[in-house]
Amino acid sequence: MKTSALLKPADREEAEFLEKLDPKRLPEHLAVIMDGNGRWAERRHLPRIAGHRAGVKAAREVIETCARLHLPCLTLYAFSLENWRRPQAEVDFLMRLLREYLKRELPTIHKNNIRLLVIGRSEQLPEAVRQDIADAMRQTARNTGMKLVVALNYGGRAELADAFNALLDHVRANGLSAFRADEQTISDHLYTAGLPDPDLLIRTSGEMRVSNFLLWQIAYAEIYVTEALWPDFSRARLLEALVDFQKRERRYGGLASTRGRAHSANGSGNGQPAHHPSRSKRG
Ligand code: FPP
Repeated sequence: MKTSALLKPADREEAEFLEKLDPKRLPEHLAVIMDGNGRWAERRHLPRIAGHRAGVKAAREVIETCARLHLPCLTLYAFSLENWRRPQAEVDFLMRLLREYLKRELPTIHKNNIRLLVIGRSEQLPEAVRQDIADAMRQTARNTGMKLVVALNYGGRAELADAFNALLDHVRANGLSAFRADEQTISDHLYTAGLPDPDLLIRTSGEMRVSNFLLWQIAYAEIYVTEALWPDFSRARLLEALVDFQKRERRYGGLASTRGRAHSANGSGNGQPAHHPSRSKRG
């Protein structure tokens, strides 16, 4: 099947990217650092919150496009642990925006068989936000289509600390003095347990940083940085990033002809990626 059968191009640019896209080699997990809402607003002499509103529109379009292309998993970095340092009014606005978004979009998300997941220290979020998230996750729990993962009050190092503490609790509770952790054990204790690692990480607004996002999981991800500010990250820009991803040669530390990672530190030593055997198809 061609991608243009999944997605109707709105213009010539989209049609050209769609033509180049191989639907069988799309990422299994696309992770996105949405950056530049504030700058987008400043350039228009608008308040920062106008940038966030425009950012929600861009997020909606990306979610819809990924779902139509049947991407298995999309993760959006919506609020970091560090974002509490912003002015209280902006933080409050972002929380309100998220609740508004869930209220408005949940029926569409559900209708499209999308499963919503939230990762991060959600116990520190305002009670009303936690309630809405829990309801949305419950409502979509049985959906079998794309997993939409929203990183909220998320930090990569905090996630690793939480995973190590969960492991230590397990060891203490079971008196496992000889216990040793391997890569799989650690992955299984991350917020993203059970999800494939991202194979593509997109960051908007030109910054060359990973900003404490999915530090463990992006070990082998392709990184795509675009100058576009998040509110300008249109469907065409997403398709362009996917086309670029498909041009990359993925070697996992091996040679061009090697399929899969050369050595897996989890001890299986079978030359396949430790957690995602399906990746070996892509080299
Ligand atoms: C970055 O812009 C964006 C954020 C802090 C996250 C907020 C994201 C949205 C509102 C998009 C919608 C998401 C969902 C899941 C509904 P910035 O403020 O860091 O921009 P700047 O770097 O230009 O100041």
